[in-house]
Amino acid sequence: MKTIMFMNAKGGSGKSTLATNLAAYYALCNCKVALADFDMQGSCMDWLSVRPQESPKIIGIPAATRSIKLPRDTEYLIMDAPGAVHGRAIDRLVRRVEHLIIPVTPSPVDFRATARFIQELLLVRQVSRSKTRVACVANRVRDVSHSYEALERFLDRLGIPLIATLHDSDSYIKASGLGLSIFELKGDRQAGRDQQPWHPLLRWIDGERLPPVIKNANRDMDGFRNIDRLDELELSTI
Ligand SMILES: Nc1ncnc2c1ncn2[C@@H]1O[C@H](COP(=O)(O)OP(=O)(O)OP(=O)(O)O)[C@@H](O)[C@H]1O
Ligand SMILES: [Mg+2]
Repeated sequence: MKTIMFMNAKGGSGKSTLATNLAAYYALCNCKVALADFDMQGSCMDWLSVRPQESPKIIGIPAATRSIKLPRDTEYLIMDAPGAVHGRAIDRLVRRVEHLIIPVTPSPVDFRATARFIQELLLVRQVSRSKTRVACVANRVRDVSHSYEALERFLDRLGIPLIATLHDSDSYIKASGLGLSIFELKGDRQAGRDQQPWHPLLRWIDGERLPPVIKNANRDMDGFRNIDRLDELELSTI
């Protein structure tokens, strides 16, 4: 099972948006996916509550209030961390996470807050880089030609790759209101364009085992709903 967490103490950087989109992407690829929401705000659980019945199945786990129980055959566990995490809360959340993705929006204020968070994560909390791969994603980018030199220099010094640059786009907002992802907005051209920048992020997670990239999924959704075996695996230490 792959474990992927979106985390940044800076609020509003796109953790929940990226977590829901990634979960839906893998579900569309016919993978068995669980989405654990560690935030009391419950944005991912809210998103799942409006997700259409016929959409590819994602198991939702309100992890802020309950221990995690997963179907034994889960292939991807996507985790959404709350904003404003510090101290021991970081240690508890990061334990057992293989891939930690830090979304950052391109404003100087957000860069500074993210830099402080990364410092705490790596230097103070000493998250083990041998167990947890860490990467950044630039999110809500308007001008893709703009380079984020200060951020890139900072990440470079710490050996953290900037693995994707995702656009600021209404398709994320539209999809989110429908309980869908940008990979599921059929025939929506903007959503199609927004899918492209996800490729390097998916490659970073999956390497050679990259699941197929979905293009405006016009597929029959039956056959995707096969995660009903609640033969449970307890991960109470997360
Ligand atoms: N790429 C994007 N394009 C447009 N809007 C986006 C994008 N990413 C996120 N948003 C919007 O930005 C807002 C904040 O995103 P989100 O809730 O995912 O952030 P968060 O990091 O989970 O916040 P919090 O720290 O409060 O949990 C939301 O309204 C979301 O719809
Ligand atoms: Mg959130």
